[in-house]
Amino acid sequence: MQFLQNRKNKINGLLLIAASTLVGCSAGGNKTGYEYAPNMYESEAYEAYTQTGYMKYNPNGMTMRTPVNGTVANGQMGYTMYTEGYEASVAWRNPIAPTEANVAEGMRLYNIQCQHCHGKKGKNDGGVIKSGQYPPPPWDGYQSNDIKNLPDGKAFHSITYGKGNMGAHGNVLTPEERWKVLHYVRSLSLGDAFVYAAEGTEDNKDVVSMDAKSFDGFELADIGADLETINGAMRNVKFNGLAYKKFEDSSIPHIDKVAAYMKEHPELKAMVVGHVASDANIPGFGELSLIRAKTVCDYLESKGISRDRLSPKGKGSSMPAVSNDTKDGKETNRRVEIYFIK
Ligand code: HEC
Repeated sequence: MQFLQNRKNKINGLLLIAASTLVGCSAGGNKTGYEYAPNMYESEAYEAYTQTGYMKYNPNGMTMRTPVNGTVANGQMGYTMYTEGYEASVAWRNPIAPTEANVAEGMRLYNIQCQHCHGKKGKNDGGVIKSGQYPPPPWDGYQSNDIKNLPDGKAFHSITYGKGNMGAHGNVLTPEERWKVLHYVRSLSLGDAFVYAAEGTEDNKDVVSMDAKSFDGFELADIGADLETINGAMRNVKFNGLAYKKFEDSSIPHIDKVAAYMKEHPELKAMVVGHVASDANIPGFGELSLIRAKTVCDYLESKGISRDRLSPKGKGSSMPAVSNDTKDGKETNRRVEIYFIK
């Protein structure tokens, strides 16, 4: 009898183990199964993307909260906050040579990142737009004048940071790749008029762009996005018409911003660079770009910036920001830019 009882207990014990093993094994597919020691699964520390247990302030189940509207990541000011960033980008030039190989690479990347909206040939007829679920750009296609007249820098800015309904692509394409894609966009835009550079042409690293390291042979001080903010202000410094030497009065508050910046940063020296449009490229106007740069320097000096921190330069019409073919283009090219050195 005793023997039978023992045997029964043993069988019960075995059944219990078998049952618990079965329950324990019920994980699979979408089930995690039972957790016998939750501390091994659930972190004691707060995890940004999960939170064990419900809490009324985090209905999404995440410890991390959505940042307050208008929050800007460290170091990203100046760009997203100011439309001046878009305006200032006018000054950027495409540093990548438009060789056939570079344009072909641009095409490859375009077909991955862009054609589903803008279409294979840039006619805004990609699948996403054709589906009718997504509003098309406000212009017909890259062949429209809106895009033909859009400065490279602004296009680059929009590709990097997005614009309107277009998302940012700065996180999926390196700056170099974005410039290559832009060459391909230009080739779609201009068709046969697009000019390729001979194979083997060197890239021009010495141009004004977001990551420019030097200008005119001088190593630039790394002031990050402040450079665009300053030049965004300078874009509002207007010289009315062909031959005016003095900037308009409406420019004053914008140059004042530059003066304030230089007071805050006494270690920086400014290269003040004047440019004129192509129509000023006639005898007698050669010095105009330098004269304009000097008037800006004079004004900065009158605001307490020591003259030895200011060096004016005149570039004539040798560095157009955009094509000089239109009145607007000329107006854009007639400008004074500022670069900082230590
Ligand atoms: C989801 C659809 C979509 C994708 C993907 C997309 N775009 Fe756009 N793109 C748009 C829309 C919409 C606009 C119009 C934005 C506006 O002006 O409001 C636009 C505008 C532009 C402009 C004009 C910007 C300006 O400053 O006016 C350029 C250039 C451009 N896109 C190039 C590209 C390139 C290159 C890619 C790929 C790297 C790309 N787009 C990917 C939808 C898209």
